[in-house]
Amino acid sequence: MKFAVLGGTGLIGAQVVRNLNAAGYEALPHSKSTGVDVISGEGLDAAMAGADVVIDLTNSPTFDEAAPEFFRTSMGNLLAAARKAGVGHFVVLSILGVDKVPELDYYRAKVLQEELLAAGPVPYSIVRATQFMEFIDAVLSWTADGDTVRLPATPIQPIAAADVADAVTRIAEGAPLNGIHAIAGPEVFTLDELGRRTLSGRDDNRRVVTDPTAGMFAAVRGDVLTDPGAHLAPTHYADWLS
Ligand SMILES: NC(=O)c1ccc[n+]([C@@H]2O[C@H](COP(=O)([O-])OP(=O)(O)OC[C@H]3O[C@@H](n4cnc5c(N)ncnc54)[C@H](OP(=O)(O)O)[C@@H]3O)[C@@H](O)[C@H]2O)c1
Repeated sequence: MKFAVLGGTGLIGAQVVRNLNAAGYEALPHSKSTGVDVISGEGLDAAMAGADVVIDLTNSPTFDEAAPEFFRTSMGNLLAAARKAGVGHFVVLSILGVDKVPELDYYRAKVLQEELLAAGPVPYSIVRATQFMEFIDAVLSWTADGDTVRLPATPIQPIAAADVADAVTRIAEGAPLNGIHAIAGPEVFTLDELGRRTLSGRDDNRRVVTDPTAGMFAAVRGDVLTDPGAHLAPTHYADWLS
């Protein structure tokens, strides 16, 4: 089986390419750095030629109001090229609870991506994952100020990027779901507590101040970033951190 992995040089994409090739399939990474641009369409036809499965692991360069346009344009180009190439399965990585936070530009953009995929001409699967453990540094940096970091007590169920890549690989190998597969980390924390554990695990002396208004996740209701019904991934936060 042949796989075209768009965003195949990114955090998740590179691991998915490695997984698939290690399993004996032929998987090629495509991204701007390999001469394929999902926005201009450059190189897309060649990238998809002969592919049985397309996996889209690209990401928008910003999380702001420009994000919906990134996913609208990229999905238009990708779906047209996939249809032309006769691709039989199109896999996208989305975010758990994405449809419950319309006030966040980035979440609206990902919902748009899912809707365009579901309405498109190619059988599909959507993997919805919780926040990556690797995302914690970005979250801490948003509201860091001197020796404090402000974080809300929003519940969160972080998942290791390697576990996300394994799940995407499994779904991409299988038949199209024409639906959603939800995955989450094995533990629920509040974000402020996760910040404290992270700083203390790294001997970082900064202090976490609980602030219900701080950062992007302040806008998120209590039950949105967690799901007891999701498939639980194996890696615990303490093991990832160490
Ligand atoms: N962060 C989270 O916690 C989280 C949770 C759930 C789901 N997700 C989803 O996971 C997906 C993958 O995220 P990630 O962290 O692995 O992304 P990432 O590391 O930022 O990688 C993004 C990839 O997209 C490529 N790319 C960007 N613009 C492109 C363009 N115009 N044309 C072609 N390729 C382009 C990049 O290639 P170049 O470097 O060559 O530009 C890179 O390979 C995203 O869609 C995100 O929404 C994230």
